[in-house]
Amino acid sequence: MKSRFRFIKSLRFRIMIILVFIGIVPSVIVEKAIVNSYEDRAVSLRSFNVKNQCDILSNQLLKEQYLQNPESEAINGELSLLSNVYSGRILIVDQDFRVIKDTYDIDRGKYMVSKEVVSCFRDGKESSSYDRKNRYIEMTVPIHTELDNETQVEGVLLISVSTEEIVASIEILEQKGLTILLIIAVLVCGFGYILAGILMKPFAKVTKAIEDITDGFQDENISVPDYTETELITDAFNKMLGRVKSLDNSRQEFVSNVSHELKTPLTSMKVLADSLVGQENVPIELYQEFMQDITDEIDRENKIITDLLTLVKLDKKAANLNIDMVNINDLLELILKRLRPIAAKKNIELILESFRPVNAEIDETKLTLAISNLVENAIKYNLEDGWVRVSLNADHKYFYVTVADSGKGIPEDSIDHIFERFYRVDKSHSTEIDGTGLGLAITRSAIMMHHGAIRVRSKEQEGTTFSVRIPLTYIV
Ligand SMILES: Nc1ncnc2c1ncn2[C@@H]1O[C@H](COP(=O)(O)OP(=O)(O)O)[C@@H](O)[C@H]1O
Ligand SMILES: [Mg+2]
Repeated sequence: MKSRFRFIKSLRFRIMIILVFIGIVPSVIVEKAIVNSYEDRAVSLRSFNVKNQCDILSNQLLKEQYLQNPESEAINGELSLLSNVYSGRILIVDQDFRVIKDTYDIDRGKYMVSKEVVSCFRDGKESSSYDRKNRYIEMTVPIHTELDNETQVEGVLLISVSTEEIVASIEILEQKGLTILLIIAVLVCGFGYILAGILMKPFAKVTKAIEDITDGFQDENISVPDYTETELITDAFNKMLGRVKSLDNSRQEFVSNVSHELKTPLTSMKVLADSLVGQENVPIELYQEFMQDITDEIDRENKIITDLLTLVKLDKKAANLNIDMVNINDLLELILKRLRPIAAKKNIELILESFRPVNAEIDETKLTLAISNLVENAIKYNLEDGWVRVSLNADHKYFYVTVADSGKGIPEDSIDHIFERFYRVDKSHSTEIDGTGLGLAITRSAIMMHHGAIRVRSKEQEGTTFSVRIPLTYIV
C-alpha cells in the first residue's frame, strides 16, 4: 500500500468523513430553516404593521374626503412620513383607476389597472405579496365605506415597502450561522478523528497480534474479543495458524520418517560389510551370501527413493496432470496382465469383472499407478491359493473400481492409518513382505488429483475391499 494513500484508504478516515457528514448536514439544514422562518416572520410582521397604518390612513382619507380633493396638507404630510418610515412608496388610486397621489410624484394622473387593483375594487379585500428578489413587499388596501351593511370601495391604496433592513439582518444572521457551522465542522472533525481512532483500536490490536506471531514473539492463538468482527477475524486466523502448525508438524514428521527409512538399509549394509571386513579368511560362500544381502538392501533403498520421488511429484498440484480420454476396461486389463506373474507365484486367482464399457478423462500413468498399488497389495497381503477380484462399473457421473481380496485383512485400529506415508500394519512383517509403506499414500494422492474418493472395508482373516470413485469428466 502506498503510504500516501494509506490514510485516505483507511477505515478511520472513512468513519471520520461519515461523522463529519452526519454532523454538518443537519446543522446546515437547521441554519437554513432558522434563517427562512426568521424572514417569513419579519415580513409578515412588517406587512401587518403597514396594513394597520393603512387602515388608519384610509379612515382619515375618507373623513377628509381626500379622494375628491387630494390636496390636504395634513394627509400629504402623513403620507410622506409613512413612506419615509418604511422607505417605501404610496399610491392612491380612485374609482376611475387614476392615480391621484404618488409619494414619488412619478405616476400621478396616470391610470393603474393592475390585476391587484382591479380585484381590490371588486372584492374589497387587501392583498399582499413579497418580492424576495427585489426586496420589497407590495400591498393593496381598499379604501371603503360601509353603507347599510354594504361595502363600497371608493379607492385603493397601493403601497410598496422596502425590506432592505430585513435582508441586512438575515445577512448578519447567515454570517453568524456560517461561523458556528465552521466551528462545528472543526469540532466534529477532531472528535471524529479521535472517535474513529478509538473505534479502530481493536483492529490495530489484531494486526499487532498477527505481527507478533509472524515475528516469533508469540506462539499461542490470538484473541481480540472486543468486537464480534475482530473475534471472527482472530478465529479464522487461529484456524489458519492451526493448519499451518499441523502442516509443519507433518512435514517434520515426514522428514524424520524419510531419514529413518533411508537409514535402515544403510545400517544393515554397514553391519554386513563390517562383519566381512572384521574377519580374516572369510569363506567365499559367506562373501557371496553377504554380498547378496547387501544387494537386496540397495534394491530396497532404491525402491524407497523411487516411491518418495513419485509421491513428491504427485504432491505438486494438478498442474502436471496429463488428461486424456481413456478406456478404463483396457487400462484395468493391462494392469492385471502385468501383475499376473506375481499372483501366479502364490497361486492367486486374478479376476476382472467389467459391468460396462467405460471411457473417462484421466491421467493414464497416474491412475495406473494408483490401481496397480491396490492390486499389488491385494496380492502381497493375500494367502496362498487366494483370489483377487477387480470390478468396474459406472453411472452417468462417476466410474467405480473395487479391488477385493481374500487376504488376511487389516486390523481395525490400523484402518485409519494405512494411507499415511511409511505406515505399515506390522512392522515386523516388513522383512517378510517387502514394501515401503508409501504405496497407499501414492494411490490416494493420485485419486485426489482426479477429484475422486477412496474407501476401504476390511475384516481380519476374511479379506479387504478398496473402493475407488472417480468422475468421468475431469473438472479443473
Ligand atoms: N489388501 C490389503 N490387505 C491387507 N493389508 C493391506 C492391504 N493393503 C494394504 N495393507 C496394509 O497397509 C499397509 C500400507 O500399504 P502400502 O501403503 O501399500 O505400503 P506397502 O505395501 O509398501 O507396505 C501395508 O503395509 C499393509 O499392512
Ligand atoms: Mg503397497
